[in-house]
Amino acid sequence: MSSLRTLDQADVRGKRVLVRVDFNVPVENGRVTDATRIERAAPTIREIADSGGKVILLSHFGRPKGRDPKASLRPLVPAIADVLGRPVSFAPDCIGEAAMSAVNAMRTGDVLCLENTRFHPGEERNDADFVAQLAALGDIFVNDAFSASHRAHASVEGLGHKLPAYAGRSLQEEVEALRKALEHPQRPLVAIVGGAKISTKLDLLGNLLEKVDTLVIGGAMANTFLAALGKSVGKSLCEHDLVPTARDILAKARSERREIVLPVDVVVAPRLEPHAPSHVVEAQSVPGTEMIVDIGRRSIEYFCSVLARSKTLVWNGPLGAFETEPFDNGTIEVAEAAAELCGAGDLVTVAGGGDTVAALNAAGVTERFTYVSTAGGAFLEWLEGKVLPGVAILQVK
Ligand code: 3PG
Repeated sequence: MSSLRTLDQADVRGKRVLVRVDFNVPVENGRVTDATRIERAAPTIREIADSGGKVILLSHFGRPKGRDPKASLRPLVPAIADVLGRPVSFAPDCIGEAAMSAVNAMRTGDVLCLENTRFHPGEERNDADFVAQLAALGDIFVNDAFSASHRAHASVEGLGHKLPAYAGRSLQEEVEALRKALEHPQRPLVAIVGGAKISTKLDLLGNLLEKVDTLVIGGAMANTFLAALGKSVGKSLCEHDLVPTARDILAKARSERREIVLPVDVVVAPRLEPHAPSHVVEAQSVPGTEMIVDIGRRSIEYFCSVLARSKTLVWNGPLGAFETEPFDNGTIEVAEAAAELCGAGDLVTVAGGGDTVAALNAAGVTERFTYVSTAGGAFLEWLEGKVLPGVAILQVK
């Protein structure tokens, strides 16, 4: 894969720089509850502003169907200014007169945030006319939104055909970290894949199986694999219709000499609710009246021993019902072991995907991992081996 055009090659002085960021952040009662995505974009914004560029921020927020005050970016502006430590102005539209007059009023070093790009249907359609209207506002395009780069939308991909396009620092860092982990890893390479369903992760499992040395499977998706091995999973969440698919995956792993690691013991409970009465059983002896809610102690030790003999870890998805205490225990203990190995310089640890970040945050290990992606869908598509349009457009041809 070729390298990216980055800010190192861009001359931003005196230029109007359209910077695509992903400010699709969690907001409660009008306040940003997790500013990580804003913090990640801050170095790019500061660098352009401090180099004499005019920074014009483009982002989507939510999935509005047309103009919707509930999806306005305006309430986010104080949080953006707070993170940047400098004033940020706002324009109530991302194209047309309102946007153009706000851009015309900018001086070098200014930061302007335009309204939600998804208020216009042309954004998601990557409509040529909408792209042209966005492009009229800038001289240069910078994409710093890896987490939106799986979308071939106007402000992510379309602009790259109209203006000189460069990767922002956070996108650059993210692509470098992910390539290092999956394309040029130090081996052995292990992937932990968890979460509820294999139906949503079939492409991901297929692609990972070609790349990793060991695949550790946890979460409810492990139940489908246990069923494929003929084990009873009781009342557990299990995609019985995908048992043949799970069998094919196990057979493929065997023929290609990839190791698949499944839980050997599990925590079971009669129902999924906080502190439901639970106990540990062998993975093949789940009673018909109980459901698997977490991995057991021997599984934790087994998974940790796999990490200890690996050099690179790619992690997506929790290992148990981590949102329901105390069934977050398996995920937390394995995450803690990964963070310790990482701290000792023995393991490169890269993780991502919506639930995964929440689980690692809950485990308090995010800062101790080599790289934690804030991307949800984009991280999954990258794990599936797909080309992300918003990244492809930045590649040196
Ligand atoms: C995300 O939160 O994963 C990104 O902002 C993409 O959002 P989308 O799934 O609505 O395109």
